[in-house]
Amino acid sequence: MLQPGRVIISEAELKTRIGELGGEIARDLGRERPILVGVLQGAFLFMADLIRATPIDLTTDFIGVASYAGARSSGHVRIVSDLSVSIEGRAVVVVEDIVDTGLTLTYLKRTLEARHPRSLRVCVLVDKVERRTVDVGLDYVGFVVPNVFVVGYGFDYDGLYRNLPYVAALEGD
Ligand code: IMP
Ligand code: MG
Repeated sequence: MLQPGRVIISEAELKTRIGELGGEIARDLGRERPILVGVLQGAFLFMADLIRATPIDLTTDFIGVASYAGARSSGHVRIVSDLSVSIEGRAVVVVEDIVDTGLTLTYLKRTLEARHPRSLRVCVLVDKVERRTVDVGLDYVGFVVPNVFVVGYGFDYDGLYRNLPYVAALEGD
């Protein structure tokens, strides 16, 4: 049975690093009243902690994306729940949980660029850089992790384990 095993990123490490990311975003975008766009569902915990660590005027929205059924990292992604506001002319920061192959984020960036934001940055909590198949620019990266499947702190396996307060490797016994 697969279940959460070894801790990859502890609660304390998450808090420290997310505090640093919020500080960087505040320094870069303090005067721009950015809109932080959380990618559902995985990024909702990260988003909640990140905005509390970003002490500037900002607004938030969420976008839901899903891979087409049966397509495993094919890059065929669709929007299942769109933004509720226009991002035209706004400084946008996409807040994503993890970048694996990079295909999801590549699609998302292309889609959002077409809506003419003033700027488009990407903040990811976890980068599995070894798995990258397409080069996608990342502006803020929380942690680089090895090629293991992670769960907890928003990351799920079959919908489970998002509620763990830390990030762990999914392991079999
Ligand atoms: P990509 O398109 O291959 O970069 O895949 C990114 C998406 O795959 C993420 O947004 C996650 O939903 C999912 N994913 C990739 N690796 C993991 C993992 O280790 N744990 C949980 N979800 C993952
Ligand atoms: Mg995701």
